Amino acid sequence: MSNSQKTNTRLDGKIALVTGGTKGIGKAIADRLADAGATIIVTARSQPADANQSYHFIAADLAKVGESDKLANEINEKFGKVDILINNIGGTSSPAGGFGTLTHEHWNNDLQLNLMAPVNLDRALLPKMLEAGEGVIIHISSINSQLPLWEANMPYGAAKAALDNYSKGLSNELASKGVRVLTVSPGPVKTGAMQAFLGDFANALGKTIDEATQVMMDKIGGIPMGKMAAPEDIAELVGFLVSPAAAYITGVNYIVDGGTIPVV
Ligand SMILES: NC(=O)c1ccc[n+]([C@@H]2O[C@H](COP(=O)([O-])OP(=O)(O)OC[C@H]3O[C@@H](n4cnc5c(N)ncnc54)[C@H](OP(=O)(O)O)[C@@H]3O)[C@@H](O)[C@H]2O)c1
Repeated sequence: MSNSQKTNTRLDGKIALVTGGTKGIGKAIADRLADAGATIIVTARSQPADANQSYHFIAADLAKVGESDKLANEINEKFGKVDILINNIGGTSSPAGGFGTLTHEHWNNDLQLNLMAPVNLDRALLPKMLEAGEGVIIHISSINSQLPLWEANMPYGAAKAALDNYSKGLSNELASKGVRVLTVSPGPVKTGAMQAFLGDFANALGKTIDEATQVMMDKIGGIPMGKMAAPEDIAELVGFLVSPAAAYITGVNYIVDGGTIPVV
């Protein structure tokens, strides 16, 4: 690798798709990649009123079977291919309370959103990347995949653990074909989804949001840095990982958690 490649974090001429790129971590990633020069496509179920008009917005509910193929066809028609795929959507619609409160539908929904949506989108967009012999795929996971919170979100953590395993397997398969695959695992991040999660958790525990936040912090052993991440903290790492400066990095799961995971 030449010195200029080592320091090249620009993304001019690259086309990047950010799923869930309208809010929270996805929006921060879209903004970070746009700052580096990439053309940005964002997808979500609906476009917020304050959406950045310079991004190409395509509406899609990626938790629904068939939507990934529809989205990929539209992108391939309009843009030819994507160079950078950020699989950011995820979350949980399951109630807190543990095993006994969870139905087949809760498990199915969380597995669909956190595991099958990224798998299906990769399946739909990878052929063009492989044809080009280059590309980068990022899977946004969570430290919950390694730190199960059974009281709060067991199906979500299990689905993210499966995503981590799949991401590593895919990176091994594609490393020699020019496509890099990486996982980024945030700890708690200040977003709308985190606020909603803490509200539901507080209701399930019969506590205030501050008390429920403390319960969650105690369960994960606290955040050594003493605060949740901002979405931009996650976006900064992603911006580096998808750039030419990270050309030799693949198959790694990066934890961005202010020091929360207690083991090496
Ligand atoms: N926040 C945290 O503390 C935290 C911690 C670790 C990992 N993560 C992970 O980080 C990722 C982003 O989380 P976030 O907190 O930034 O979430 P967020 O603020 O709720 O944003 C979610 C984004 O995804 C879109 N979205 C949700 N469901 C969708 C669907 N079915 N189809 C298409 N788009 C959909 C939303 O737009 P619409 O509602 O309009 O569809 C929105 O743009 C997730 O994978 C999450 O698991 C978050």
